[in-house]
Amino acid sequence: MPVLQVPGRPNTWAAVTETTTYLLSVEEGEEVKVVQWYWGPRLPVAALAEVTLQPARYHGTSFLDPDDIDELLPVDGGRRWGVPSLQATFEGGVRSVELAFERAVESDDELELVLRDAAHGLRVSLHLRCPEGGDVIERWVSVANEGAAAVRLHRLDSGSWVLPARPRHRYTGVYGGWAQETQLQRAELPVGETTFTSRTGTTSHKANPWIMVDAGDATEETGEVWTVALAWSGSWRLTAQRRPEGDVAISAGFGHEGPSWYLTPGDTLETPPALGLHTTGGYGTASRSWHEYARRHVLPHPGELRPVLYNSWEATWFEVTEAGQLDLARRAADLGVELFVVDDGWFGERTDDTRGLGDWWPNPDRFPQGLNGLFDAVRGLGMQAGLWVEPEMVNPDSDLYRKNPDWVLHYPGRRRDTMRNQLVLNFARDDVRAWAVGWLDPLVRDHGLVYLKWDMNRSFTQAGWPGEGERGDLLWIKHTRGVYAVMDELRRRNPGLRIESCSGGGGRVDLGILRRTDQVWTSDNTDARDRQAIQQGYSYLYPAGAMSCWVTDRANAITGRVVPLRYRFHVAMAGTLGIGGDLPEWTAEELAEARELVAAYKEVRHVVQHGRLHRLAGTPGVTASAVQYTLGAEVVVLAYHPYGYNGSVSGRLRLAGLDPDAVYEVVGGDGGPAVPEGSRWHGRTLMSHGLALPTWAPAGPDYRSELLALRRMTS
Ligand code: GLA
Repeated sequence: MPVLQVPGRPNTWAAVTETTTYLLSVEEGEEVKVVQWYWGPRLPVAALAEVTLQPARYHGTSFLDPDDIDELLPVDGGRRWGVPSLQATFEGGVRSVELAFERAVESDDELELVLRDAAHGLRVSLHLRCPEGGDVIERWVSVANEGAAAVRLHRLDSGSWVLPARPRHRYTGVYGGWAQETQLQRAELPVGETTFTSRTGTTSHKANPWIMVDAGDATEETGEVWTVALAWSGSWRLTAQRRPEGDVAISAGFGHEGPSWYLTPGDTLETPPALGLHTTGGYGTASRSWHEYARRHVLPHPGELRPVLYNSWEATWFEVTEAGQLDLARRAADLGVELFVVDDGWFGERTDDTRGLGDWWPNPDRFPQGLNGLFDAVRGLGMQAGLWVEPEMVNPDSDLYRKNPDWVLHYPGRRRDTMRNQLVLNFARDDVRAWAVGWLDPLVRDHGLVYLKWDMNRSFTQAGWPGEGERGDLLWIKHTRGVYAVMDELRRRNPGLRIESCSGGGGRVDLGILRRTDQVWTSDNTDARDRQAIQQGYSYLYPAGAMSCWVTDRANAITGRVVPLRYRFHVAMAGTLGIGGDLPEWTAEELAEARELVAAYKEVRHVVQHGRLHRLAGTPGVTASAVQYTLGAEVVVLAYHPYGYNGSVSGRLRLAGLDPDAVYEVVGGDGGPAVPEGSRWHGRTLMSHGLALPTWAPAGPDYRSELLALRRMTS
């Protein structure tokens, strides 16, 4: 959809998406401002010329009135006291940014507004793009130091988004930690500045760069929701400022307080895109719109089906041997697994986590003939081959570090703090990136790998880049871009390669990394009940097809919780299914059941991975809950009930997003007598009265779960 110049209104543009309008203009008074007038349900384009533009807030004449009302890029300068999206110090300690409007560069789906601080030669471009289809608006900022002196940027966000005043606002987002990523939180947005951030150098387990805001009245299915996400995999900051006047401005960008970006004359810097989305359809529609955007515009191969993988980590930990892996491969193939992945412990002297990271050749004791013996056997079993790597890391006890101690993030004269006995290689450096491509490319090519699990297991500390002087902080940006560049180059050279982003579990899940990876490791926590909450939070932004989920052992390795195999499978089948258990320990009955469940998943995975997701009901992992996926005429429901008795549930599950007048027939599943194959209902009945599912019955054993497949018969 286009970005239109509003007829009859100079310097005013409307970004028109499928269901929304975003209206902005350049206001040239004593001071130039780029103002957002409107962001909400779609306005008739023809009428825009007639509409009186009014700021969302009353702007009187009091000496207290700020000028940062409704700006796309409020700067630190002039009569502004809110959150600045751009903050700079120029030569001589001058801090007040003063921008003049130069020109607009327009194309069908993109607008660039060029502004300039003439006194110091800082060019600032605001970019806006409406990708085809959907309601997401992409915005980013690029700056160029065209002056004679250096400029230091303390904050350069991708821009600010303004939400109209309401009596109250509520935010939804996720927090977490290792093994408990993407925990949903929803709370009143107080008057003031609420900041969500990562200072780790990665996206982080503790927060994720997106927010949804509503007026306190949105539900899963109804209500206005404004949402902003940042497509970035390094440190970030998102500040939601609810102003005393009752409106909200959300500024989002890379970096965090402290590091600053030093631009010498001639330097340029571009932010990652911040993405805005408005809907009147509640959180569910917001999530589905994000999923659709990820499929259309982010994921590199959205049309593919992700294979069922086996990963040996929880089976062998660091005890990797060729014979052991081959034994696991045979058992995995027997279950219907399509991709066999050797995790950590296959390379260098890596027999535990104290050594070997950085030495990326097959461990000579464990694989004396190299890895191809194993991988040829894997292929002979009908599976494809994949490997775990952690390219950004090095153990001090490694040949790589002994040879190149300067390659890590460090400051001369400061400690080099390790975490998990490792240091971070500086991917901002050209030589480090060249080294990485230099071993990754042959590793993939020579072993016929179709998959890498790209891990990143620690946060930045002592993040110095000696030799770069004042520009050293830029490594916070350039490391992330360096990782992107290596992944992009690797994919370019190996078009068949697919990558899973992992960072000690789900520490690097975002719309930046998903542009060059195909799936993400959601969490190291594979406990089915804990996973349900993690997967629920994940689903707010990211699509199920990219969500990697494993079935592991009976007693979970992290929590010790014992959950029936079927329930574990049904939870992992809600995304892209994998198996990560110690298969020699599984009983013959468990293996037989697993074989059936893998086959059942393959029957429905196209609907799960590519369909429209509805979070149907309940608190996942706590109460009876269910998720539904719909693709064309096909509907798949996964229902869960972890507890035995719950008299307060109705026992009926209402479906969503169906054609009310069509008839739906049960065509598969393992629900039991209440929902035999061939049963038929109208869409309207399913949505308003619901299905009586055995899983949802108030009384029954713990950990009931089921998979149900329906098909639309007529409409
Ligand atoms: C991280 C990952 C795990 C596993 C280990 C290997 O913790 O999240 O899945 O790959 O590293 O060391």
